Amino acid sequence: MNVGSDHRWKECRAARGHDFIVESAAPASSPSRTPAAKSGGGLLTGPLPRGTVAADAGPLKAMPPPGQGIDYEGHWDRYAGDWRELHPDKAHIGDEWEGVEAGAAQSLAEYTALIESRFIAPFVRKDHAVLEIGVGGGRTAELLLAHCDRLVCADISARMLQATRARLGEERVRYVKLDGITLDGIPPASVDVCFCYDTMVHLEPRDIFNYLSRIPALLKGDRFCIFHHTDILGEAGWRVFLRDWRRHLQGRHGTAFSVMTAAIMERFLRHLGYRVLVKDDESVPRDCVWICQGPA
Ligand SMILES: C[S@@+](CC[C@H](N)C(=O)[O-])C[C@H]1O[C@@H](n2cnc3c(N)ncnc32)[C@H](O)[C@@H]1O
Repeated sequence: MNVGSDHRWKECRAARGHDFIVESAAPASSPSRTPAAKSGGGLLTGPLPRGTVAADAGPLKAMPPPGQGIDYEGHWDRYAGDWRELHPDKAHIGDEWEGVEAGAAQSLAEYTALIESRFIAPFVRKDHAVLEIGVGGGRTAELLLAHCDRLVCADISARMLQATRARLGEERVRYVKLDGITLDGIPPASVDVCFCYDTMVHLEPRDIFNYLSRIPALLKGDRFCIFHHTDILGEAGWRVFLRDWRRHLQGRHGTAFSVMTAAIMERFLRHLGYRVLVKDDESVPRDCVWICQGPA
């Protein structure tokens, strides 16, 4: 999918002023560089215990002023609002994401068949409750609903949720508007599967890590997770990076592809205690898809 280049470029927030909170790093010889000083926010050294999240965080080094981070919500709302005008020939938001640029398919039908056969059918059962994070116009949600018992559609964009609701209705489906940080609104231990496809490809690594750290608390039963992100160290991902980088200096459009790699994801998953069942970097050559089980 190539949202960034398809979409009209109305808001380029170049040269934003960021406030910086400077962490005073201890000198190399200081005892605060030792692992024992980690929880106090000194420089981090040595391996961190698996699953550590809060204690990793330390002080913020660069924090954009409120409202000036990556505007995922505003830009995806705008995408949904402009969509009909831009794609008068399509039935649903998402019909334009055909997997051609990703090297996965030559048509929408081929792409959805691939998603369903490789990433949904083998893992999602008729008795499962499934959470999809980033539902867009319901393209993958519709496939999931055909395989599961109940579906929670979560998204940062209210307009995307509206589009999915218009497509799928209310029966067996719940809709949750996300705030981009928490996964509030989804009860703990309520879903057997967490599916996040064509969404992490647009999230910065820290935002991905944040969601990965919160998902395990929502899981029960099989605890299956399907995560799909970009891999700019693969040839196809690298081409997209080279095409896009100039447009996203000093901040970037909310719909842009993120700078992510399979090695970073592997580290995130290992640190947080996910059990990797499949690492697939072939089905969607630009990207990487992981099938895992979330930690209990
Ligand atoms: C390209 S669409 C993918 C939709 C769907 N999964 C599919 O494959 O058709 C990406 C979706 O992710 C949502 N999104 C973007 N950033 C998000 C975030 N930080 N948290 C949750 N959803 C987000 C967008 O609003 C959009 O609906």
